[in-house]
Amino acid sequence: MTLQQLANQSFEKRRRWLQAAGASAATLWLPRSAWSQPRWAATPFTLGVASGAATPSSVLLWTRLHLPGVAAASLGSAPITVRWELADDEGFRRIVHSGQTLAPAELAHSVHLEVPGLAPERWYFYRFMVGDHVSPVGRTLTLPGPQDQVQRLRLAYASCQKWEDGFFSAWRHLRAEHPDGVVFLGDYIYEYPGRSSRVRVPSGGWVLTLDDYRRRYALYKSDPDLQAMHAACPWWVTWDDHEVQNDYAGEQQGNSGYASPAVDFALRRAAAYQAWYEHMPVRQKVLTRSLAGLASGAEMRIHGRVQFGQLADLYLLDARQYKDPQACTKDGAPGSGRVDPARCPTWLDSRRSILGWAQEQWLESELAHTSSRRTRWQVLGQQTLFGSLGGKIGSGQILWNDGWDGYQAARTRLTQALQQHAVPNPVFLGGDVHENWVGHVKLDYAKPGSPAVGVEFCGTSISSRLGGNTQTAQRLASNPHFVFADAQHRGYGLLDFTPHQLRTTLRGLDDVSRQDSSVATLASFVVQPGRPVVELE
Ligand SMILES: [Fe+2]
Repeated sequence: MTLQQLANQSFEKRRRWLQAAGASAATLWLPRSAWSQPRWAATPFTLGVASGAATPSSVLLWTRLHLPGVAAASLGSAPITVRWELADDEGFRRIVHSGQTLAPAELAHSVHLEVPGLAPERWYFYRFMVGDHVSPVGRTLTLPGPQDQVQRLRLAYASCQKWEDGFFSAWRHLRAEHPDGVVFLGDYIYEYPGRSSRVRVPSGGWVLTLDDYRRRYALYKSDPDLQAMHAACPWWVTWDDHEVQNDYAGEQQGNSGYASPAVDFALRRAAAYQAWYEHMPVRQKVLTRSLAGLASGAEMRIHGRVQFGQLADLYLLDARQYKDPQACTKDGAPGSGRVDPARCPTWLDSRRSILGWAQEQWLESELAHTSSRRTRWQVLGQQTLFGSLGGKIGSGQILWNDGWDGYQAARTRLTQALQQHAVPNPVFLGGDVHENWVGHVKLDYAKPGSPAVGVEFCGTSISSRLGGNTQTAQRLASNPHFVFADAQHRGYGLLDFTPHQLRTTLRGLDDVSRQDSSVATLASFVVQPGRPVVELE
């Protein structure tokens, strides 16, 4: 579908998208004859399976029917029947629930199946069937009950998987470490045209339309290591800019860095958000005002809180959708830049927000209730580096205006809320910068001696490139709130929570350009509850 066709769709047709999403989300019990059952010469489960958005009594199961080299539209305009089973065991001898659901054509034949009636904190196995074809088996985990005393939780955090920059070997190694969940912090796809000089075959042209985004997701999801990681455990997902366009902010387009086709950004963002929904294990409720409203700026509400019993709360934040435009980018251009705050009158404007006011207020209200929930660790999963990389403000430093440094008033509002509400044990997770940064979250980065109110682990990329460690030591020395940095390795982080300790292990690939790359521990850190101090092990 072209952008113009998207714009010209009748209201009635747009309304059907939401109905289709609703039909897909529910378990339906129509007679088999009422459902479309095309004959399949080859398996349509080429993009794997996924799960996420669990509660103590339910999970969200995902798949999408897709034949490589065949446009989504050629699977027809009718919804396709997909049968499913959920079992206690991998051999499907003890089936807990089964049924059939719809893969609507309007949603690229994706399935978002909500399965209720499950037991808390339990692993289940699931699979889908179409005709004679059976999907890979997925494994998923329900949340514990909110009052449950959970003794251990292993989460991985990761971001930024640019296809042509390298192989997804990091996912293969992570799978062997058996996490209970993956927290994905953005840049699941990149929207650029592929370049032939890189590690993998080019990924295609510019990603601008709904069909383009669908093709890009299908390419990334064709990767066997990524598929296997989705099948291994539930994912908790948020997004960053490249799911739409480099450096976009709210409803303002970004800047792709070199000549890209001019398109209507509102329609492009709507197409990108729809494709993200179609390919992620998220619930239909993220579509607060239906897919039809996205082209006019309607919200896709992906931020929220996930509670792992009494052990941890995970706040998944969205620092893209509601973000005020970056301040003082050179010549008034959209997108990001490096800025001297002393020459930027709006730099410290307290009205500017990176999360948007509604999300800020939601987050503060959630944080204000941590003392009554009494969860041990408060984990803030967000897009980018939280701590400052500018040293002392006003000393002539040049700061990057797209990250939290460019939204200092908003950053201080959040750190002050952590202090004011005595939020227990905040742990910030980030991505975006393709470098590992570990440190202390300061109440006010502009004031030397300001107390720490939490700790931060900003992760490297799964595959996306960056320069290396030539400036790392100098940047660490001028920003002493950080205790460790590495810009050399791709990989992921592992978080092992217990009531008595958080251990974070940074795992780095030997060589992202090799499919058989090995992995090694770069460093590991321990944090004790009650003390916002990161200790190198
Ligand atoms: Fe990235």
